[in-house]
Amino acid sequence: MKIPTSTIIVTGGASGLGAACIRAVVERGGNAAIFDLNAEKGQALADELGKQVIFCSVNVIEEESVRNGIAATVAAFGEIHGAVNCAGTGDAGRTVGRDGAYPLERFQKIINLNLVGTFNVTRLVAESMQGNQPTTADGERGSIVNVASVAAIDGQIGQVAYSASKAGVVGMTLPIARDFSKLGIRINTICPGVFMTELMGMAPQQMIDGLAANAQFPPRLGDPAEFADMALSLIENTYINGETIRLDAGMRMPPR
Ligand SMILES: NC(=O)c1ccc[n+]([C@@H]2O[C@H](COP(=O)([O-])OP(=O)(O)OC[C@H]3O[C@@H](n4cnc5c(N)ncnc54)[C@H](O)[C@@H]3O)[C@@H](O)[C@H]2O)c1
Repeated sequence: MKIPTSTIIVTGGASGLGAACIRAVVERGGNAAIFDLNAEKGQALADELGKQVIFCSVNVIEEESVRNGIAATVAAFGEIHGAVNCAGTGDAGRTVGRDGAYPLERFQKIINLNLVGTFNVTRLVAESMQGNQPTTADGERGSIVNVASVAAIDGQIGQVAYSASKAGVVGMTLPIARDFSKLGIRINTICPGVFMTELMGMAPQQMIDGLAANAQFPPRLGDPAEFADMALSLIENTYINGETIRLDAGMRMPPR
């Protein structure tokens, strides 16, 4: 899948890692659709980047909302060739903490956004992609990138809901790749370490240094542009499929 001739949807594209992907698609000459709940930030980014980008007000956990976003993207650019599922969030709490057992509704909320939302977009985007004209002699029609976290593997104290949701994203990667094999659609997952997004930019330097100390080389937090580079490489390289990649400078998270 070549970015300059592609249209890529990025959920959570108004902010952080998703916004970096939107910028990278545009820099490389492709078209991009921001699927995000945050209309103010999403529309501002689309306005800044010009006619290669549209903003779609989408809630990834709602079927109709995602279908409307897909229809708007197809109407604007024709086919959809790629998707990066960045919409997600965290929640901190121990399984049993000072205030008692972790509330079930908080656990379900995180699973619903990070895991069910990712699956919802994946299934509906792939349904649209299956009607694409193949772009290669192999019959490639689309490429999807999911975003998990190193917490899927080295979950820390207080990360039970987040880790479970991201481990679900890792776990569904291979079976979805197998489900898609006859459709010519690939799917891969990135497990980012800690990236220097706007939110992290507001953290005290001591905390940033402490997190960076968990990395091997380079001993720093990731640059969102490095994440975008990996996501677009996974979209472009036709031979990678069903894979989960850590992008973390060799970081291994300790229990706390
Ligand atoms: N930043 C990091 O260091 C890091 C590390 C590991 C994993 N991740 C994962 O990467 C992804 C992006 O993280 P980020 O730091 O860029 O986050 P962020 O908070 O900067 O951006 C997330 C975006 O998702 C949007 N969003 C939230 N709920 C939504 C919904 N229901 N429908 C549509 N959009 C919704 C938000 O409005 C926001 O724009 C997340 O899944 C996160 O878990 C991030």
